[in-house]
Amino acid sequence: MNNQDIINEVRRKSDIVEIIGEKIPLEKRGKNYFGVCPFHDDTNPSMSVSSEKQIYTCFSCHATGNVFTFLMNYEHKEFNEVLHDLAKRVGITVNSFAAPKIPTKYKDWYEIYDLAVKYYQNNLMSKDGEEARIYLKNRSIDANTIKEFSLGYALSGRDSLTRLLTKKGYSLDLLNKVGITSNDYDIYHLRLMFPLHDLSGKVIGFSGRIITNSKQNKYLNTKETELFKKGSLLYHYHIAKEAVRVSKSVIIMEGFMDIIRASSINVKNTVATMGTALTVEHIKNIKRLSNNIILCFDGDEAGVKATLAAGEMFSKENIEVKVIALTNNDDPDTYILKNGEEAFRNLIDNAIYFSDFKIKNLSRNRNFTSSEDKANYIHEVLEETIKITDPIRIEIILKDLAKKFEIGYNTLEKSFYELQATKITPTIVVADKKNTKEDKRNKYQKASYIIIYYMLNKQNIIDLVEKEHLVFPTEDLRALESEIVYFYHKYGFINVADFYTYLTPKISLVNLLAEILQLDLKTDLKEDDVKAYFKVIKEYNFNAQIKYLEEKISNSTDFNEQLKYAEEIRKLRIGEKK
Ligand code: CTP
Ligand code: MN
Repeated sequence: MNNQDIINEVRRKSDIVEIIGEKIPLEKRGKNYFGVCPFHDDTNPSMSVSSEKQIYTCFSCHATGNVFTFLMNYEHKEFNEVLHDLAKRVGITVNSFAAPKIPTKYKDWYEIYDLAVKYYQNNLMSKDGEEARIYLKNRSIDANTIKEFSLGYALSGRDSLTRLLTKKGYSLDLLNKVGITSNDYDIYHLRLMFPLHDLSGKVIGFSGRIITNSKQNKYLNTKETELFKKGSLLYHYHIAKEAVRVSKSVIIMEGFMDIIRASSINVKNTVATMGTALTVEHIKNIKRLSNNIILCFDGDEAGVKATLAAGEMFSKENIEVKVIALTNNDDPDTYILKNGEEAFRNLIDNAIYFSDFKIKNLSRNRNFTSSEDKANYIHEVLEETIKITDPIRIEIILKDLAKKFEIGYNTLEKSFYELQATKITPTIVVADKKNTKEDKRNKYQKASYIIIYYMLNKQNIIDLVEKEHLVFPTEDLRALESEIVYFYHKYGFINVADFYTYLTPKISLVNLLAEILQLDLKTDLKEDDVKAYFKVIKEYNFNAQIKYLEEKISNSTDFNEQLKYAEEIRKLRIGEKK
């Protein structure tokens, strides 16, 4: 058996209903099973799992695929890892090729970082680690937490780690390159070491904190490398992605210590930037976890600024975040230390909407002495309020405002609608966006979708499409068709679930395939219908050819050439009438 055959065999023996059913409750309705989709925030059973086709499709967020893609997304694993797991489960040997693959280029890098983690951990537990252990104890960080976050300690030696690693055969060049050494010597001395992980949990660098009062930088980070970029790292992401599944929300904090403290009270759905402003890259990855996002930044002036900036960035992505606004210069770490778990969980439960936070913030440092000041404030609040879609929240805000400034509710409401009319407001949603593509499809695309749908379900349609030289109206449709034909000829059959595996690297085609499969048409197809759809697509081909020739004519300056094209058009038109 070749690799693709083995993959198909593993897939065939792994029943998708059974496997998804172990992760989320499924209920049978008609011929399909339904459950709450784990890939977006929902409470409705919008994910359908087909036992017959061995695929799943979410009608809300459009997540789709076969048993492999489900587990890859659900467990955040690479294809080979999932293949490995499933093969083991169904008793097929795949070790010849399916060992989880690490891009070989960085294999050495990961080994070096892992060795460094162990080295720092050992130091912390050694006799020389006593000062660091005392530091941690003073900050109430217990042994469990130390282990969970793989905290370590860098000793004073000039090149202890460098020597250890060169002895293991790593060149100084490489050690300098990966940021473990600098100019052939250890970088970190007498610092508490925090390993930094990438999204999948592999160590890609370190941050070292001073543990004594010193003039040095509080944290010293690995330099930017091919793997470590400070501006895109999200601390604790690899742990948060599991926790978010249970808590259905993700909390963004500023620092390592905040995350570590929250974890110690079992709040683990947290990520932190490295004290930098949120970047587009951060946002993209946070959105992958959940659309329920809570900002919990430090309770100082900088934290307020960071909250405002981050909230705006998420608004641009049509997400209204929630905010926990700490005060008294607390950060999550100190807040939890002082007030405990229950108080912090209360803060989470009572997080306010970003727009409410913003409105509240508008009244800071204002004394409302002049009518102008009051009016300005009211206008600023209205500017915010028109961005809100929930009519109940709008009414609450307007009523508060009316009461606070003793103005008539009707006056405020009128100003609100006048302002709203002057703006095209972005819709802010908390959950999923609905599919609007349906309506935009023209009749040629619709017919093409239907024909491709049946190509995947009835092999004689593939033969027909080939025989009739059907040309589909868009590049993606043509690409998808040629992939179907290719797969069919290579394996002698077509089966949606296996075809998914095959198509997976080509994201745009997978998405198109998902859209087409959502048609969920009946299994029998009348010959007359096939003819009708073919006719529509051919009409498109015909029009396209005529248009092409007409363009040739108008672009040409040669009379004979123009005649030649005109003749071709004439022939086409006659052919069409027949
Ligand atoms: N940071 C950094 N370099 C610095 C200072 C801070 O990279 N010189 C990053 C670290 O990731 C840090 C985050 O910014 O976790 C937030 O900074 P801060 O609030 O000062 O640190 P805490 O995590 O709160 O650490 P501690 O409580 O130990 O002071
Ligand atoms: Mn702190």
